Amino acid sequence: MHRHGAASPEMPESLPELRAQIWQELQACVQDRNHGWRVATLATLSGQEPDARVVVLREVDEPSRELVFYTDARSPKVAQIRARSQGLLLCWCASLSWQLRLRVRLEVETDGLEVSSRWARLKLSPAAQDYLSPLPPGSVIGGAHGTHGTPPAPDRGSRGHFALVRARVESIDWTGLRGGGHRRAQFDAQGGRWLTP
Ligand SMILES: Cc1cc2nc3c(=O)[nH]c(=O)nc-3n(C[C@H](O)[C@H](O)[C@H](O)COP(=O)(O)O)c2cc1C
Repeated sequence: MHRHGAASPEMPESLPELRAQIWQELQACVQDRNHGWRVATLATLSGQEPDARVVVLREVDEPSRELVFYTDARSPKVAQIRARSQGLLLCWCASLSWQLRLRVRLEVETDGLEVSSRWARLKLSPAAQDYLSPLPPGSVIGGAHGTHGTPPAPDRGSRGHFALVRARVESIDWTGLRGGGHRRAQFDAQGGRWLTP
């Protein structure tokens, strides 16, 4: 269904069509390494300060409007999410020329079946080492004289610090670029509407 490398798709003319197509593309991006939306920027609040970083979208469920990404339970973003659940996921796909700004409610899960079943799969893959470092993300490391040094070895015996984060989409702000005039639309609990770009 996805047409990467091909010309941009027709821009949907109706709001229901557009909404369906946005969710279709979200669903497609978790399977397609080349889809621009797969690597999304997640903005959160760190006290009064903004913070942002990229994360990989792993799962998308339209009925519950939930997206899932994985993280290290010790990472600063997890503490930020626990303090303030509001987030914004920003996605840009160059081949679609579509931008998405998703207002989300974030929730961290560090145990339970949902976590252990995903960890059981992940721990056999090279990506497992992202969650096995004995030091939390953001720890200062380094050898003598400003060299990078050898990071501490992964803690293979441990359960890891794998956590999953659910992002429930509360509103969608979509912008599509095209030669004949850009378009913008917004969807939330009240419905959908076209906006001036
Ligand atoms: C291409 C790319 C993909 C990334 N994917 C993830 C991810 O899925 N989950 C994650 O926690 N960090 C991911 N990171 C690292 C984060 O961007 C960030 O640097 C790290 O998680 C620390 O963020 P924090 O200090 O805000 O917690 C990724 C980084 C890059 C460059």
